[in-house]
Amino acid sequence: MAKGRNDMELRPNPRTGRYRLISANWKMNLNHLEAIQAVQKLSFLLRPADYSYVEISIHPPFTDLRPLQLLIDSDQMRFRLGAQNCHFEPSGAFTGEISAPMLAKLNVSHVIIGHSERRQYFCETDEIVRAKVEAVFRSQMTPIVCVGETLQEREQGSTEARLRSQVEAALSFLAPELAERCVVAYEPIWAIGTGVSAKPSDAQAGASIIRNVFDSFWGNEVARKVRIQYGGSVNPTNAAEFMELDDIDGLLVGTAALDPDSFARIIQA
Ligand code: PGA
Repeated sequence: MAKGRNDMELRPNPRTGRYRLISANWKMNLNHLEAIQAVQKLSFLLRPADYSYVEISIHPPFTDLRPLQLLIDSDQMRFRLGAQNCHFEPSGAFTGEISAPMLAKLNVSHVIIGHSERRQYFCETDEIVRAKVEAVFRSQMTPIVCVGETLQEREQGSTEARLRSQVEAALSFLAPELAERCVVAYEPIWAIGTGVSAKPSDAQAGASIIRNVFDSFWGNEVARKVRIQYGGSVNPTNAAEFMELDDIDGLLVGTAALDPDSFARIIQA
């Protein structure tokens, strides 16, 4: 991982050797003025020790990126700037799209790719997700690749097959040195935005399936390094139990990350 001024004190989890990562996915919420206020408040609420325990990425809408870049930079805040999506081509006639090099130029370090809302509402296929992962790596950023089963798939007992096929389609082309730098977010679709999170045992089971897929493609060394987040109705009350799980290295937080108070409490949990 690149070491910058802002993460000098970041320590890996002694149990796993992996760096923890908690990410705020704001989705289509908070305009640039609200974004500045939210990040200032979050920075005020966190203690220096919080940053040594966990890397924190904030994924606002595109229009907030430039103001937040300036704020984070000028106040030397220890947040990673993230994006929620990008196009897979570096430039061209794609009206309304934003490319990975444009994000990298704004010091964006992490890009969420293949969120279930993008797959569902914007017809993102596994091939598109794969191309976007490639684009993110080409611009030296880290993809946070979202995978997860629907309620129906879960009830049919096909969770494992679904996770395996999503990881395979999105990532199997990667060389081991890139595969180990991926972050995979296990987000059961039935748990997103519903207020009903997965049970810790379900989150662990999903994460363990994902780590096993990495093992089968790239071997144990890579599987031990890849970071896996849980996402889906994370809140200050349930965050700690997910963070304690063997195969969970972080959280992808939607609703509860919009309020700086509750996001700070998640980080401190
Ligand atoms: P949620 O969203 O925390 O509101 O369930 C999570 C996500 O979609 O990443």
